[in-house]
Amino acid sequence: MYYVKPLIADDVHYVASIMSETSNIAALHSTYHSLSEWKCIFDENACDEDEENFLICTDNDVCAWLKLNGLLNTDTAWISMLVVADKYKHQGVGKFAVEYAFEYLHSKGFNQIGVQTTEDNNAAKNLYIKSGFSIAEIKKFKAEDGTNTDSYVMLKILESKKYSLVIPDETHEEAYIQMMDKWEAVEKSIQPELLRRYSKSSGVNVSYSKWLQWCKDDRTTGSMLSTGVPCTLYFFVDDTGEIFGAIEINQKNTHRGHLHAGIVPWHRGKGLGTKMLESALGICRNMGMTSVDIVPYKSNKSAIKTIRKNGGTLMDEFFEDEKWSQRYTIPL
Ligand SMILES: CC(C)(COP(=O)(O)OP(=O)(O)OC[C@H]1O[C@@H](n2cnc3c(N)ncnc32)[C@H](O)[C@@H]1OP(=O)(O)O)[C@@H](O)C(=O)NCCC(=O)NCCS
Repeated sequence: MYYVKPLIADDVHYVASIMSETSNIAALHSTYHSLSEWKCIFDENACDEDEENFLICTDNDVCAWLKLNGLLNTDTAWISMLVVADKYKHQGVGKFAVEYAFEYLHSKGFNQIGVQTTEDNNAAKNLYIKSGFSIAEIKKFKAEDGTNTDSYVMLKILESKKYSLVIPDETHEEAYIQMMDKWEAVEKSIQPELLRRYSKSSGVNVSYSKWLQWCKDDRTTGSMLSTGVPCTLYFFVDDTGEIFGAIEINQKNTHRGHLHAGIVPWHRGKGLGTKMLESALGICRNMGMTSVDIVPYKSNKSAIKTIRKNGGTLMDEFFEDEKWSQRYTIPL
């Protein structure tokens, strides 16, 4: 499983190491730069709002560097660098990074993404063509290592994926199991809680069909819930059926509000939490609610951002279980 983190100054050595691999120097027609040179390059560009740098990581290693630029443009932004460490090549890291770039740029309002690669870089050309880019222009290019070559300018229109909220049923079994296997490996207390399949009484994960029964009880009687308030769990899926997160809607307000949500760790930071909440608010409106309360921990900055982006106003805050919580209300 791969995830993305923004590159910080302490991580520049990863870039230096990946970029010093001979195969990458050859593929990029670049030249060797030492760690201190890379530090200078990143220091000089630290405040450049036109670019963002990311690392593609596994749980305990860094596999690739991704740089996007043109972020001050209005229509088209660019993958200005994508380079995978040798030992992670041809394992889907490149494809993952390109898809991340699509979603990141789409969430920032860009309509098109571009990339340039050289005529002799088959791995890159294949990756981009497979990811939906088309060759828009071929132009002469003098590379950093002095090679004169053809540069392929490739473009792709960014289309919105269609996401929806669905109540879990038998058809989601494979997608649920895949998602939970991946998620449980990286996070202990998965939110929203109703997603969890671990049974304290039997000490194991229950089967999907048993878990579906739990969801049904939560939805209809709420008898297993500490609030006693019936609560519906929705998967946030795209049109291929992949599950990107989930949200619970309490049928009545509770001490901890109406809604609890979570996006899978490997799709965070792309604006999906805001989208999922927006869809859930539509469901709440249809249920006849006139406002919803959401009660995140005060420290949960990303959740608070999604709430504010959906019109949430801070009503009060309280201290409980050694943590500050904040109550936000969203009028519907
Ligand atoms: C190009 C690069 C980013 C691809 O990353 P990757 O993680 O190895 O690629 P993926 O595993 O995601 O593969 C996706 C597709 O790319 C293509 N691809 C990847 N490696 C390839 C290779 N060695 N030869 C031909 N095609 C290749 C394939 O079409 C592949 O799909 P498939 O596995 O279904 O056949 C990587 O090889 C790299 O870092 N190269 C050096 C730096 C570079 O050239 N960057 C591009 C600058 S524009």
